[in-house]
Amino acid sequence: MYTLIDYSLDNELALIGLSRAPVNALGLTLRQELQAAFRQASSDPAVKALVVYGRGLPFCAGADIAEFGGAAFDAPALPQLLIELAGSSKPMVAAIGGLALGGGLELAMACGYRISEPKARLGFPEITLGLLPGAGGTQRLPRLIGAEAALETILAGQPLHAERALELGLADHLADSADELLDAARAYARELLQAGAPAQPAYPHAEPGVALPDNFFVDYTAKKSGQWKGQLAPHLALEAVRIACEQPLDVGLAREQELFLEAMDSPQFQALRHLFFAEREAGKVPGIDASLPLRPIGKVAVIGAGTMGGGIAMNFANIGMPVVLLEQKREALDRGLAQIRKNYEISAKRGKLTQEQVEQRMALLAGTLDYADLADADLVIEAVFESMEVKRQVFVTLDEICKPGAILATNTSTLDVDQIAAFTRRPQDVIGLHFFSPANVMRLLEVVRGKETALDVLATALKLGKQIGKLPVVSGVCYGFIGNRMLEPYAREAHRLLLEGATPAQIDRVLTDLGLNMGVLSMYDLVGIDVGYLIRTPLREALACDPSYYRLADELYALGRYGQKTGRGMYIYEGRERHDDPEVLAMAERLAAELGIQRRVISDQEIHDRCLFMLINEGIQILDEGIALRAGDIDLVWTCGYGFPTWLGGPLHYAGQLGLDHVLAGINQYRALLGAYGEQWFKPAALLEQLVAAGKTRISKD
Ligand code: 3HC
Ligand code: NAI
Repeated sequence: MYTLIDYSLDNELALIGLSRAPVNALGLTLRQELQAAFRQASSDPAVKALVVYGRGLPFCAGADIAEFGGAAFDAPALPQLLIELAGSSKPMVAAIGGLALGGGLELAMACGYRISEPKARLGFPEITLGLLPGAGGTQRLPRLIGAEAALETILAGQPLHAERALELGLADHLADSADELLDAARAYARELLQAGAPAQPAYPHAEPGVALPDNFFVDYTAKKSGQWKGQLAPHLALEAVRIACEQPLDVGLAREQELFLEAMDSPQFQALRHLFFAEREAGKVPGIDASLPLRPIGKVAVIGAGTMGGGIAMNFANIGMPVVLLEQKREALDRGLAQIRKNYEISAKRGKLTQEQVEQRMALLAGTLDYADLADADLVIEAVFESMEVKRQVFVTLDEICKPGAILATNTSTLDVDQIAAFTRRPQDVIGLHFFSPANVMRLLEVVRGKETALDVLATALKLGKQIGKLPVVSGVCYGFIGNRMLEPYAREAHRLLLEGATPAQIDRVLTDLGLNMGVLSMYDLVGIDVGYLIRTPLREALACDPSYYRLADELYALGRYGQKTGRGMYIYEGRERHDDPEVLAMAERLAAELGIQRRVISDQEIHDRCLFMLINEGIQILDEGIALRAGDIDLVWTCGYGFPTWLGGPLHYAGQLGLDHVLAGINQYRALLGAYGEQWFKPAALLEQLVAAGKTRISKD
């Protein structure tokens, strides 16, 4: 008796339906039953061919990620199972519906023949988990579609559309639709039997290495070395494909296993797996489940067509939802709409959209100067200037004109969402939707839950965030929410270290060497020294106790050195090049003298520790305060919104890798070393102290 397989006979065909909800991950029981079903079919003389399919489910999302480190290698382990299937004496057809990912695609390749439905996606996402395909993928794919295409597919980690899979030879046929897939697979199996097709067809690229240029793998690595900096898995994957090009299949399969285990043992896999599950957890909020009715959203309004408003509006037009864009003045509105069109035209030039799609999306966007046009909107997102007074005017007006039940959202980066909600008579309908710039591109969406925000408003926002392709992460209300609040002490240390003797280039190099997309000082130059200055304004009074606080940046602001846009900021810019500016270095020396700060040689280690420990400490504090629901949410915010390297798992996961006791000791060490400055800022979060005292190795509030 099978529990996860539906086994049936259709005359001479054995139909093996995988039915492990939700995505047919190949956990131990499914592997055992698949093996048993395969053996049953193989030994039944009435069966002449086999069809494997996902029964009412996607074909297969691969190995069971939750099993890694547990039962993943209990017999039958996936690689051995697939070797057995690939030795089938009867033709096997994989009927790929929905998706065939990772081990799922390896299963499909172990079947000699593959038919897909047109909307299916096929690929190897292992690289995004810090792994490489480990059940034959790196050996069979090059033999099937050629080494270069295989390498690209494996390293990209992005699934291919069925049509592309067909072009490459990864699928042999496309069914007309998902509904017809199983029938088409049966017909295909019968055709194969009639034609006397072999159980395992010959590989089109049986010797994938022969067509490659000399030094292909060395050159490929050199080309990608910048992009792969700090990451293990791409190197291992490349090595596996190289072996496929040089060694027989059985040797390659054995080597692939070794490389896979090396990847699986690495902290990078632990980090990326943590993020995978954190992402799935992020949508789960206590009190919200599928039974909670959501508010219907059929029309959206966006107020302010500036940098953020335009991008926000595009997200909704992209999913076919009508959007009204409101501005104060005709020129601003026209400028905003023109910018949106320009963005779409760029996508069209890059082949990502057809001209028809551009026009369809533009047709969904209606500009207005009149609030009356917002009366029937289900969701209004405000993206006007970052000023409480301007927000007040907007929300008072919205309260007057919006229909009951409409969700009123603010895109503020730092202002108090509860205060904004209190401008209305319906604070339960108000929420923060903090998009990141460029809002049509960046995946992170902080969903800021006010103290009165209704659960169905929160649930609707989370669902809608996913619908527009974002990663919504819930934050409570505090200055800067999760992301910008953590940015503040991290950047504060970088600014202070300038006064103590480090240079901008040194600080940024330490951070980019760790794997951050950009050093924090370059980031401030990019965003604008003026923007940073204005954001700090509400903090100034509270922080007057530290006269060194962002002092250099404040002076740069006063000089009009706003960063990249003025050609000078922390750095001096010459075209795309940037250099430490002698003027800034001299300014740092002068300020240090004025403030009585002893300058010294600052080590890279100190830069790393002070910036990162303060980032981590603030994250732990945020967790302890309940601003973030889980450590994983904080890690998602920083990896998805601030370029923190995914292979370190985010700041809080990284803290666990460094050792929580090490982080705590470091904070205490700088507290002692840095005198009054240390006393003021290097205060370990109480939760960190508790975790260390309890001997915990990772950060969690439970
Ligand atoms: N293993 C274990 N659980 C998995 C899984 C997997 N491979 N794929 C998905 N799940 C689980 C999720 O954790 C989630 O569980 P939950 O409901 O308890 O939170 C549930 O399935 C549904 O997943 P999503 O919420 O992500 O649903 P979506 O419809 O948005 O996405 C998906 C589906 C595209 C399959 C996405 O889940 C995904 O990308 N999964 C990972 C696929 C992958 O990386 N496969 C390779 C695995 S490694 C491998 O195969 C190694 C081999 O080479 C040896
Ligand atoms: P922006 O200055 O580019 O655009 C603001 C727009 O709002 C302008 O076009 C202005 O004409 C319009 N506007 C001002 N008052 C208005 C009113 N009363 N009614 C209608 N329109 C009005 O500003 P930006 O950068 O788009 O920021 C908007 C909001 O988004 C701010 O709250 C900001 O903090 C937040 N934000 C900004 C991010 C960024 O990187 N720029 C990132 C995340 C949030």
